[in-house]
Amino acid sequence: MSRGRFIAFEGGEGAGKSTQIARLAEALRARGEGVVVTREPGGTPGAEEIRALFVRGETARWTVETDVLLVCAARADHVARLIRPALEAGSTVLCDRFIHSTLAYQGHGKGVAMAQLLALHAFATGDLWPDLVLWLDLPVELGLSRSTKRAAAQEADLPQEQRFEALGLAYHEKVRAGFASLAAEDGRIVRIDATQDIDGVAAAIAAAVLR
Ligand code: TMP
Repeated sequence: MSRGRFIAFEGGEGAGKSTQIARLAEALRARGEGVVVTREPGGTPGAEEIRALFVRGETARWTVETDVLLVCAARADHVARLIRPALEAGSTVLCDRFIHSTLAYQGHGKGVAMAQLLALHAFATGDLWPDLVLWLDLPVELGLSRSTKRAAAQEADLPQEQRFEALGLAYHEKVRAGFASLAAEDGRIVRIDATQDIDGVAAAIAAAVLR
């Protein structure tokens, strides 16, 4: 059995990643591929517990150092217990965010040194990298307004996962510029114009995956 493909979806807030992951999963399954859909932070019971600490509550709840350690701890569990076994079983893994979110949000956005993030990633995951990264890019204001509307539409008693949205426009512009600079350095990252309609984005993703 050959190792499965590992595809990560990345981007700022409100880029439409979940919709597109579901579309791609359906298309690949229709071709007979085994597909595992997962997300970060989270994806395993332990990592989902860490996610709740990471994405809820006040922005200043944790320092950036704690944020990095939380997300790396969640990723270590997720890779060891779900992603690596799925890849070894030959499945295609579609993951909503992975290491490039840490490089963009905590690295470019908050100024944590890349060398430190890369060393922690190697320790946490045995240096597992996606084969392909689909970066769903759209203007920050559009993404934030979509994401805030989605949160407002949820039931009032659901815990809100808005800790990073609350960091504001200037921070999210740095994150977007961070993804752009990561994409310029790494051929595995493909930029997808996420301002297109859902079918247009899905077609661009399908073309990138088939390539
Ligand atoms: P989501 O909204 O795509 O579910 O992601 C949760 C939030 O966590 C999002 O605002 C981005 C943030 N995040 C980081 O800051 N660093 C990371 O490494 C990951 C995976 C997510």
